[in-house]
Amino acid sequence: MTQITVNASQSYNIFIEHDVLAKCGEILSSILNTKTLAIITDDIVNSLYADTVVTSLTNHGFKVCKFVFPNGENSKNISVLNEIYDFLCKNNITRTDCLIALGGGVVGDITGFAAATFLRGLDYVQIPTTLLSQIDSSVGGKTAVNLSCGKNLVGAFKQPECVICDPKTLITLSKELLSDGMAEAIKYGMIRNEKLFELFEGHTIDNIMDCIDKVVYRCISIKKDVVEADEFDKGERMILNFGHTLGHAIEKFYDYKISHGNAVAIGMCLITECAYKAGICDVEMLNRLISCIKAYNLPYKLDANINALVDLCSNDKKRQSDKISFIVCSKIGHSIIKKTSVDDFRSFILK
Ligand SMILES: NC(=O)c1ccc[n+]([C@@H]2O[C@H](COP(=O)([O-])OP(=O)(O)OC[C@H]3O[C@@H](n4cnc5c(N)ncnc54)[C@H](O)[C@@H]3O)[C@@H](O)[C@H]2O)c1
Repeated sequence: MTQITVNASQSYNIFIEHDVLAKCGEILSSILNTKTLAIITDDIVNSLYADTVVTSLTNHGFKVCKFVFPNGENSKNISVLNEIYDFLCKNNITRTDCLIALGGGVVGDITGFAAATFLRGLDYVQIPTTLLSQIDSSVGGKTAVNLSCGKNLVGAFKQPECVICDPKTLITLSKELLSDGMAEAIKYGMIRNEKLFELFEGHTIDNIMDCIDKVVYRCISIKKDVVEADEFDKGERMILNFGHTLGHAIEKFYDYKISHGNAVAIGMCLITECAYKAGICDVEMLNRLISCIKAYNLPYKLDANINALVDLCSNDKKRQSDKISFIVCSKIGHSIIKKTSVDDFRSFILK
């Protein structure tokens, strides 16, 4: 089995293997001190994978209870969080027990936040089942729920006890969800690793599953390095936001009717076009990025008023003081953090 250790404020292992879901009981009995586990999952993942996980856990002597909520971003809110707290109370979960997040980034984020806050904090384990959650959200300890006034506005840093990552679960993802995760994968190639980007250039959405284990492993390794260098997002971790400053604005512009991966794909292409116009990178790099984005059925441009996008970037509640931070790549695999005034950002984008 492949293992990656993340040396953050708390060290933990990521176990990566096909069919590792059926071994989660074995893995967790060697890591956890408790025998009581509360699985949190959504209805789709519940029907696909919960039985395998529950069987493996009970076969290894764990007492398991399970809370299932409706799938989708709309469930990542305070009201579902409240239902999770009630469920944990009713099942007498104590501070020495452990939560299991079984599902995509929505399940991971809300379960992680419940673990950070219920009884002032208890352990949790991530079992991510989407490409995005395997390569991104399950690693690094960011947890959150959405408020009606914005996404991820209430959250905490809370590292998991371990991550159990089964790339075989990605077989049941729709092409759209696979594409969505590929936007983040392409981002990793752009910001840190040209060889990884070349792997994507050599494939398309129709055959990337042939080497998905390699993709998952290499992307997680990059995320691990970045998180270890800047766990609490004060500096280098910002490079993970390549394509996201404009991407978040694009999501808001379309009232979240566009997927995150699609918005990030356009965000990466738009900012790279601006970087090219500003002489930061060459046209060949821009063209390679656009071709790669297209090969994964992702959009690279949009019909929106760019000024309106800049306004949305400058209204971002998570922005620091009066500056905007954004990421550009000078070469594939080399990213630079830029911090400018809103006016300078506007001129950079509108050049
Ligand atoms: N914490 C972080 O660092 C971080 C980073 C990036 C994104 N996020 C968050 O992650 C969330 C998005 O994650 P996501 O894209 O995984 O969304 P998601 O959790 O909503 O999953 C997408 C859909 O896929 C279904 N699904 C999950 N696994 C499946 C499988 N194996 N087969 C078939 N269907 C499956 C789910 O039921 C859901 O309908 C957002 O809320 C975002 O804010 C967090």
